[in-house]
Amino acid sequence: MMHIIPALLSPAQVRQCREALESAPWVDGRLTAGHIAVKAKSNLQLAEDDPVAVRLGEFILSVLAKSPYFIAATLPLRVLSPRFNRYEGGGAYGNHIDNAIFSVPGSPDRVRSDISATLFFSDPDEYEGGELVIEDTYGTHQVKLPAGHMVIYPGTSLHRVTPVTRGTRYAAFFWTQSLVRDDGDRALLLSLDRAIQDLGVAAPDHPALSQLAGVYHNLLRKWSDT
Ligand code: NI
Repeated sequence: MMHIIPALLSPAQVRQCREALESAPWVDGRLTAGHIAVKAKSNLQLAEDDPVAVRLGEFILSVLAKSPYFIAATLPLRVLSPRFNRYEGGGAYGNHIDNAIFSVPGSPDRVRSDISATLFFSDPDEYEGGELVIEDTYGTHQVKLPAGHMVIYPGTSLHRVTPVTRGTRYAAFFWTQSLVRDDGDRALLLSLDRAIQDLGVAAPDHPALSQLAGVYHNLLRKWSDT
């Protein structure tokens, strides 16, 4: 399922990140593209070990760790450090599906990209084009969100970024390996989680609440890999 997590970052946090991004040393995004993706990709990225990328990446990870919506929707096992891209002057990224497995720099760990995420650092009126177009079994979604908002979507999705024909589009992107690899199973757990939260408000003393919470945990136990 695709989810939009609004206002993950406050306007002040976006401003601070933007200042750092605007003066960072950008490099050709094709340096990190595989041999198929390289033909489709035309953007700029920060090197993974760039100090700005490392610092902002750690900051975003700390925000994600406190986001109930992100945690409930992704059930994260491992979150790869965010990367950063910049599109301008007609830059685009044609249709592709992200790599399935990523290695963690400086460690033997690998992360399966169950969930892709894009966190926007430019407001929609700052640039023309630059829509993230995601195709899933329910059709095509065009995503262009205010700065500080984030979209998450299944890593299995075909997606692209349309050419940025005016202005500059800054974003962070990263992948999450979920405790529950199946997108449909995760969607069921999120739906149950939300129903339990609502019931907790409407009928906090109802005995069925603890039964339902037990069902949630037993399904999570059944479906999760650690
Ligand atoms: Ni992609």
